[in-house]
Order: sequence, then structure tokens, then C-alpha cells
Amino acid sequence: MSEPREPGLTDVPETMLWTLHSRAVEAMRPDSVFPDAKAVEIYQSLDYDFERSFGRSNPMAALRARMFDRSVSTFIAENPGGSIVNLGEGLETQRYRISDDSCAWYTVDLPAAIEIRERFIAPDERHTHITLSATDRAWMDRIPEDRPVLIAAQGLFMYFQEQEVRGLLNDIAARFPQCQLVFDVIPYWVSRASVLAKGLPLTRHYRTPVMPWGVHRFSLRTKLKGWVRRPCNIDLVDYPRFPRGALRLVSWVVPMLPGARHWVPLVAEIQLL
Ligand SMILES: C[S@@+](CC[C@H](N)C(=O)[O-])C[C@H]1O[C@@H](n2cnc3c(N)ncnc32)[C@H](O)[C@@H]1O
Repeated sequence: MSEPREPGLTDVPETMLWTLHSRAVEAMRPDSVFPDAKAVEIYQSLDYDFERSFGRSNPMAALRARMFDRSVSTFIAENPGGSIVNLGEGLETQRYRISDDSCAWYTVDLPAAIEIRERFIAPDERHTHITLSATDRAWMDRIPEDRPVLIAAQGLFMYFQEQEVRGLLNDIAARFPQCQLVFDVIPYWVSRASVLAKGLPLTRHYRTPVMPWGVHRFSLRTKLKGWVRRPCNIDLVDYPRFPRGALRLVSWVVPMLPGARHWVPLVAEIQLL
């Protein structure tokens, strides 16, 4: 094995190490609910003090990745030969967790992110890396419009301004006739706290970037319908319960409290009709 190398990431691209920390640490547990050997390999190959930056890991991002895996697997089963676009994919290793030999996969991310991804994950004839911002519509030119497409954004939209998310969803809906979308949404109070505090301090050594986009759950469905401007089905899906520890108790109790579902993150799934 070669010497561990520093990732050399800053700002939003550095947050891919936060989510990798969650997935890889969960994957390394003997009682893991998220097997992912490739994530562990990458995690162990990086010269980076994950705990110093992000603290003790919890399985939140691993649970979220499982939700995205389920959406992608369902899409593949229903749309063999379709396209899967992952906006802001970072060091996600989903393509190793899901067995598929029919769809075309596209990763869209910033130059620093594609550089580190390609240290570990090579593009090939079915997996294309597109070095562009998700807000640069040029990535859409690379995706066939005559096939079903699933566009996923895991851990990305909270770093955008609301008008960027609105414009992007609007343009995606106008461009792709057969399209599904899946992305996670943080609650308004978290985004507000991050804006007021100029990022959320995870440890003494690391503060997240500002997360300008967060939405009250009760207004999300109406907003999304207005933004895509097409008939659609929208599902707002809760995170699964934590597998163990104190957070397991919290994740059982919170959904039972009146109104509390408005205060937690969720995953939005949109099927454009
Ligand atoms: C929290 S990480 C999530 C990475 C991965 N999806 C995951 O769940 O582990 C945020 C990702 O968004 C990417 N990103 C930030 N701004 C972006 C932009 N404008 N366009 C595309 N990707 C972007 C970062 O480079 C990084 O890979």
C-alpha cells in the first residue's frame, strides 16, 4: 500500500471528508449496518485527522447514503439502460455498493473534488466524471435526454443559495422529459444557525461552511412543486432510526413529539410526470 497522502481540500469540497468519516467508520464496525470496503480503503489511504476535524463519527451520513442507495437501486430496476447523475459526489463509493451493468453513471463535481476522487476511483466506459459546478448547465449537455435519468444530490444543496436550487431544479425539469430527483434537505433552523454563526463548529479545529439553503418541512412540497413547474409526485422521506447508542433513543423519540418532524433533515424524492 502506498504512503497516505493529504487530501488538500478546503471549503465545501472538504466536507466530503466529513461524510466519508461517517460512512467508513460505520463500515468498519463488526456490527455495521453499512458495509463499504471501498470507503474504508479510501479512508485509510488519506493522511487526515478525521476525528480532530469532525469529532467522533456517528452513522448519520451512512444512513443517508443507504437511503440514496435504495432510490438508485429502485431506479435501476425500473429503468435499465437509464442514466444516474450524482451532483457533488465527492468520495462517495455508491457505485461499488450497487451492482449494475446497464445504466450510465455520471459524477459532477468541482475540480478539487474530481482530482481527489480520481486518486481512488477511475472513470470508465460506464462511469463518467464531469469536472463542472452543478450550477453550470453545461453538464446537462453530457446526459442523454431520450432516456430516463435519476439526478441525485447527496449533501450538496444546503451549500447553495435558495435561488440556485430553485433555478437548477427548474432547468432540470425543463430539460429532461423522463426524470427523477433525489436530494437531502436540512431544516431551516440549522441553515439559519450556520449563517448566523458563519458555519457550524463541529470541533475546536473545524467549522463547516455556511449552509444557506434550509427549508421548513411544511413549506417544502409547495416550494418544490412551484420550482419544477411540471406535474410530479413528491415524497418527503424521514431518515431511518439510528442503529445503536444514545442517538438510537433520540431517533425513536423525536418523531413521536408533536411537530418535531419539522425540525429534522429529510430526503426529498421527486418523480416528474
Ligand atoms: C458534503 S460533500 C458530499 C459528498 C458526497 N455526495 C457524500 O455524500 O459523501 C459536498 C460535495 O459537494 C461538492 N460541491 C460543492 N459545491 C459544488 C458545486 N457547485 N457543484 C458540484 N459539486 C459541488 C463538493 O466538492 C463535495 O464533493
